[in-house]
Amino acid sequence: MTDKSSGNASGAWSGRFSEPVSDLVKRYTASVFFDCRMAAQDIRGSLAHARMLARQGIIGNQDLSDIERGMAQILGEIERGEFTWTLDGEDVHMNIEQRLTALIGDAGKRLHTGRSRNDQVATDIRLWLRDTIDSILALIGDFQTNLLNLAEEHAATPLPGHTHLQIAQPVTFGHHLMAYSEMLRRDAERFADVRRRVNRLPLGSAALAGTTYPIDREFVARELGFDEVCENSLDAVSDRDFAIEFCAAVAVAMMHLSRLSEELILWMSPRFGFIDLADRFTTGSSIMPQKKNPDVPELVRGKTGRVNGHLIALLTLMKGQPLAYNKDNQEDKEPIFDAADTMIDTLRIYADMITGIKVKAHNMREALKLGFATATDLADYLVKKGLPFRDAHEAVALAVRAAETKGCDLPQMSLDALRACMAHVPGAAEKLADDIFGVLTVEGSLAARNHIGGTAPEQVRAAIARARARLAK
Ligand code: ARG
Repeated sequence: MTDKSSGNASGAWSGRFSEPVSDLVKRYTASVFFDCRMAAQDIRGSLAHARMLARQGIIGNQDLSDIERGMAQILGEIERGEFTWTLDGEDVHMNIEQRLTALIGDAGKRLHTGRSRNDQVATDIRLWLRDTIDSILALIGDFQTNLLNLAEEHAATPLPGHTHLQIAQPVTFGHHLMAYSEMLRRDAERFADVRRRVNRLPLGSAALAGTTYPIDREFVARELGFDEVCENSLDAVSDRDFAIEFCAAVAVAMMHLSRLSEELILWMSPRFGFIDLADRFTTGSSIMPQKKNPDVPELVRGKTGRVNGHLIALLTLMKGQPLAYNKDNQEDKEPIFDAADTMIDTLRIYADMITGIKVKAHNMREALKLGFATATDLADYLVKKGLPFRDAHEAVALAVRAAETKGCDLPQMSLDALRACMAHVPGAAEKLADDIFGVLTVEGSLAARNHIGGTAPEQVRAAIARARARLAK
């Protein structure tokens, strides 16, 4: 980035002004430091615009071929890192246009006919977001594929299911992972939905009111792969609701990954000891030699805060703006870029991290013995034998208390002991028979929840198959 101190003499609006802006103002108002990331999209948009201008006879065919040749060279320079971005050029749009004019002369000066940076920048962001959403959707698919593989391997591996972080009922580890597969599926739906509204063309709105040239916006839309054109010029150059929606979709997806991260962190703690993460996702401590810290999931959890911040930044950026374009909107880019970078890096990390999880199935099963996890199964058993549910609930509460006093789990109680502790609940004890011990096993408990959405291994496998079929579409 060079900083020529020649005022705004090379700017697109210099004739009107009698003194140059100060270096501080120049730096304050410039966006080229960050919007140069949209260079490829800016060139794509300019080429489509130039082709339309030539088709409509607004510029000559020679101008068009000069513009095409110049833009090809500029794109090459940018890709090879040879392009000189200047602060004087202010933003990506003017930097590229100035270079074009330096390369091809007058044809470069004709490119901006019937266009403004206002509709140009709105088009660039939409193109950039569309590309980014497509990458995100592909990455969600990769992550989900790996998640499904792990879920399938553990479709029948028992895990204590928690509510209030207290052991509640047995679930399978595969079922637990499939909860995240469902969240990811909705995240993908959200991104696809945002993409529909991103994929509309602002170009042709010019500064705010449209343009006097006989433009063909439908042609430009087709050239750039937009589904439709934005129907109001004021709205098209000013609103950034699509960027807000994008950040909202990122914030929700990151919130989901943050929850998964929290679980990985808990599970990896020796207090749980349910999993190990591959060493490449953990770090040691500089002082405590024994430590293996889940830094990566912790950072995912932490980075969720910054994308929430970006969402709030964009909402706040927009809320006080009168129509139409205001320079405030230049502040939309860094939040968008950082939200996108964070989302993409996090998904890449997760797709890999999930393949490196070592499941400690023995510890999961041992933990299940600690929380009377099949108490609900005992209650359901009594209900199926005719006891009203509230009475069954009370009878089982008494059984749990007795087991706790004895220091054992429900299946370790004898039939007589179970009957004795329920004696105060009329009709309960006589419902108990030897078949209760099948019901009280973890496997019995899991297999009994055999309906769509339930944790029975058979259902988990069916859910995985459905998810795979959706991914293959
Ligand atoms: N860099 C500006 C942005 O990001 C481009 C549009 C500038 N338009 C203007 N009228 N100053 O919003």
